[in-house]
Amino acid sequence: YTCAIREVKTKLEVLNDELSIKNQRNPIEMIKSRVKKPISIVEKLKRRGFEVTIDNIYAHIQDVAGVRVICNYLDDIYYLRSLLTRSESFKVLREVDYIQQPKESGYRSLHLIIDVPIVISEGTLHLPVEIQLRTIAMDMWASLEHELRYKSQRDFSPSDAARLRLCSDAISEIDREMQDIYQGRGPEYHA
Ligand code: GTP
Ligand code: MG
Repeated sequence: YTCAIREVKTKLEVLNDELSIKNQRNPIEMIKSRVKKPISIVEKLKRRGFEVTIDNIYAHIQDVAGVRVICNYLDDIYYLRSLLTRSESFKVLREVDYIQQPKESGYRSLHLIIDVPIVISEGTLHLPVEIQLRTIAMDMWASLEHELRYKSQRDFSPSDAARLRLCSDAISEIDREMQDIYQGRGPEYHA
């Protein structure tokens, strides 16, 4: 899984370098990645009612390898998505667009599960990698929401949840406006 992440990161870095030469700017602000902790993998399998086996990890857990791509602008997300999904080496196994359809919590990001082939001495291994594409603003919201929901000293109330949904709406508005400013579109564009 570490190697699968490395393959994905390299591909994204190459694209980012090429696009920065072509357009004098980077679509990617930052790439973060992680391999899911064994304890979390075991908990997730149990939660879903599966026996804890290597085969079940392989068959049922698609986010052991996770890559988070923080983009500057909204359009960068869909541009990178189109480049990634067009790539011959990666097959898209699943796509969920939480930007078009935000989650109940207000969470926004574009999720892709892709199949990454890893060439090893015994042949080719295919591993899933979850890629989360989001803007800097969406990442800010998701980080703080996670912090507040799971790590806060006090209870997370329904009113907190409602206020966070409003923050998410405000952020979405800002992302759209920053995109418009970048492209020189006036306020009448979305009217
Ligand atoms: P998981 O068991 O969470 O993996 O559920 P799933 O396989 O249905 O995936 P889902 O698309 O719901 O979310 C996967 C990942 O997206 C999570 O591990 C988080 O990183 C992120 N995510 C989803 N919902 C939220 C949310 O409400 N808040 C935040 N901060 N992150 C979220
Ligand atoms: Mg997941």
